[in-house]
Amino acid sequence: MIHCQKCNDNHYFMTEDGAIPCECVKEINRKEYIRNSQIPPLFRDKEWKDVNASCAELKKICRQCLNYAKNFNISRENKTTKGLLLQGGVGRGKTLIACLIAKMVIDKVIPVVYYNISNLFKNLRNSYRKRDINQYDYDDIMDKVLEVPLLILDDVGATKTSEWTTEQFYLIIDNRLANQRPVIITTNCSDDELENRIGYRFLSRTRELCEKITFPDDKIKDYRLVGI
Ligand SMILES: Nc1ncnc2c1ncn2[C@@H]1O[C@H](COP(=O)(O)OP(=O)(O)O)[C@@H](O)[C@H]1O
Ligand SMILES: [Mg+2]
Ligand SMILES: [Zn+2]
Repeated sequence: MIHCQKCNDNHYFMTEDGAIPCECVKEINRKEYIRNSQIPPLFRDKEWKDVNASCAELKKICRQCLNYAKNFNISRENKTTKGLLLQGGVGRGKTLIACLIAKMVIDKVIPVVYYNISNLFKNLRNSYRKRDINQYDYDDIMDKVLEVPLLILDDVGATKTSEWTTEQFYLIIDNRLANQRPVIITTNCSDDELENRIGYRFLSRTRELCEKITFPDDKIKDYRLVGI
């Protein structure tokens, strides 16, 4: 069955200037990018209209993040190089907003990869251990993390830390900064807590790479407790 009437599923048109891609390619890529992004199912279907911006502070944060996503660009002239550090208490909507930004960037057919930090470290650790066919190897995971145009690192500072995790954090942030590739970091930790848990080298690099957006705990409620 033909899905695209415009190009008869050829995915391109011939013109005098050569082949040009059909709009349907964009849609196919978008679906594939959503699949590959690892955005958790809970947040895949969320829209900005689902965000209840209950106070002026949250409205401002939403506006700022929406503009960031709107302006996100990978062209050489207008490249987005800064990331975001979304900082605040549990249940304030940090993961939700990070995923909404990710979805808008994917709509521009730009790949995004989401990793919850504990999953990332679990996968990296497992990659050392055994090498069966279904398991990624360390370099596969790291290449993806280092090279994707936009990386989301969710819940930084929530996991137990060690010399190894500190090194991985630094490797990721330093490498992406050097290559001007933005990261969106979410964390429940204050700057002091981040420094204690992950180290000053990570914190100072994060400050260079990311614009900080603070979710004020006293103004924004914990949405996980709403209705309880
Ligand atoms: N402003 C909001 N309006 C509506 N739902 C929200 C809002 N903020 C968070 N939520 C919902 O509350 C839950 C917790 O949000 P989450 O983004 O995981 O918080 P955080 O990452 O800050 O801990 C999620 O199901 C999310 O969709
Ligand atoms: Mg979260
Ligand atoms: Zn088509």
